[in-house]
Amino acid sequence: MLILGIETSCDDTAASLLEVRNNSLKVLSSIISSQIKLHAKYGGVFPSLAAREHVKNLPGVIKLALTKKHLKDIDVIAVTRGPGLISSLLVGTAFAQTLAWKYNKPLVGVNHLEGHLASNWLPQASNNQKKAATNNHLPAMCLIVSGGHTELVLMTGINKYKLVGHTLDDAAGEAFDKIARILGLGYPGGPAVAATAAKLKVGGEKLKIKLPRPMLHSKDLNFSFAGLKTAVLYLTRDLTKNKKRLSPQIRAAIAAEAQQAIVDVLVIKTILAAEKYKVKSVMLSGGVSANKLLRSELENASTKKGLKFFRPKMDYTTDNATMIALAGYWRWKLKKQKTDWKSVQVDANLDL
Ligand code: KG4
Ligand code: ZN
Repeated sequence: MLILGIETSCDDTAASLLEVRNNSLKVLSSIISSQIKLHAKYGGVFPSLAAREHVKNLPGVIKLALTKKHLKDIDVIAVTRGPGLISSLLVGTAFAQTLAWKYNKPLVGVNHLEGHLASNWLPQASNNQKKAATNNHLPAMCLIVSGGHTELVLMTGINKYKLVGHTLDDAAGEAFDKIARILGLGYPGGPAVAATAAKLKVGGEKLKIKLPRPMLHSKDLNFSFAGLKTAVLYLTRDLTKNKKRLSPQIRAAIAAEAQQAIVDVLVIKTILAAEKYKVKSVMLSGGVSANKLLRSELENASTKKGLKFFRPKMDYTTDNATMIALAGYWRWKLKKQKTDWKSVQVDANLDL
């Protein structure tokens, strides 16, 4: 069967075509129109601008996603209904509802976070195929780390999720974005901080810069990143007193230490959660899962504990519609929710 996925929860306009046949997945198309350049000058996403761009871009993005097939051939349409920016979500769902109504197709509203979880099952966007949802590595401890979320979710099956930890303030991606802004590195902050950290010369300033690892030793499974951001702000302010500019090496040292601090907390808490709930595997997802240091350190820590480790292919770390198509397929198969176009409701704060 063919699933058309549509994603507009934040600043990426995305549409994908996923084929599921004999329990095997094939990505026929995965189109993303990024608005990064537009929002960069604001240092973050400007909601009303994002919604306007979705209106402009969605028809073309869907058309591109459907180059190999016609809408008449689609079996199910899946669209993100939350969580996210309300104005952005409304554009995508209204568009999906119109298509579902016009072509008389079932429409499934998808939770964006379930999409990120599903991204671990996706094959590369080529002709590669992979068994769909082989669930023998469940239960899994899933770390979802994005611009808006930092959550530890115990997954015991499809549609069986339990939130066991979350951030009390900023999300990990938000911390990367804000630290990048303080250091003058641009938006989005995650890739910018990682690239700047990579410029640190071995044996350089790294040892002199020490930043906090908030809640590292708290017994619970929650996170907090606001203090780390403030520590970077004060450190930068101190170092730039008397109008001094940060040297490239110091800036790289701060970026490297901030990145390490975020990764340390994420890894330690995820392993703590995995041991507490006696899971078989650890799964990483969300935009911050593109971070190479996090990918390798979480993999090492998981395998040391005898746990399987999964992370999405790079194409599916940040927001995309292929993960929405797969989560929509899961939902459609469960037959637990209505699929007429009228039943999809947007919820900016939707829980998993
Ligand atoms: O999942 P996503 O695309 O959108 C949301 O649902 O929020 O995540 C975007 C977040 C941004 O905060 C961005 O800075 C972060 O993911 N990010 C990264 C990297 N690539 C993207 N963070 C750290 N390292 C990266 N390489
Ligand atoms: Zn996301």
